[in-house]
Amino acid sequence: MAGVLIAVEGIDGAGKTTQAKRLVRLLNRMGVKAAYTREPTGGSIGKLVRRHLSGRRTYSEETVTLLFAADRLDHIQRFIEPQLKRGITIVADRYVHSSIAYQAAATGMREWVISVNSLARRPDISIFVDVNPKEALARLGHRRKYVYERLEFLEKVRSEYIRLVESGEMMIVDGSGTREEVAQRISTVVEPLLRERGLV
Ligand code: TMP
Repeated sequence: MAGVLIAVEGIDGAGKTTQAKRLVRLLNRMGVKAAYTREPTGGSIGKLVRRHLSGRRTYSEETVTLLFAADRLDHIQRFIEPQLKRGITIVADRYVHSSIAYQAAATGMREWVISVNSLARRPDISIFVDVNPKEALARLGHRRKYVYERLEFLEKVRSEYIRLVESGEMMIVDGSGTREEVAQRISTVVEPLLRERGLV
């Protein structure tokens, strides 16, 4: 039986990395074989992107949009699809909706961003961990490291995510409260999918 692709999304500082890793542990405890992965990847295109994100802004926002999309396609072909076929459920710490939210906010060309990502397989479920941008930046504190970690920009990104939630492409989870509370909310939205696919 094929695995499912679960994306965990949110603005910088939303705590999604912690939650994605916790979800993998929970799934494994439930007997669902699962693996964690993230974007940008550690591959050659992902490294270029991270260099850009760290402030050595080598590329225009349009170029970086294409790099995110290329990194994703490579990730899908090399890792995601083969793992899903082997029956491994993948928990992706950011996936296609990160591009639709961040690059739409950065370029103002939402439809174009959607079209350059059209070859990327859709996630089976995409979870938006919603945290107030001010709170998210406060959480990051001295860990701030990327060009997108600015209040005004993250507010725009949050609106893009909300738009995806409203169109039914993403599920929203309240990211406030303790890690345990947020993890509980995430497992509540994931479990019906696992049952539907016969994985639990
Ligand atoms: P993270 O490693 O903390 O998740 O941060 C990655 C940064 O890259 C974050 O600022 C969001 C940004 N990003 C995009 O803008 N578009 C994308 O498609 C992805 C995957 C990440």
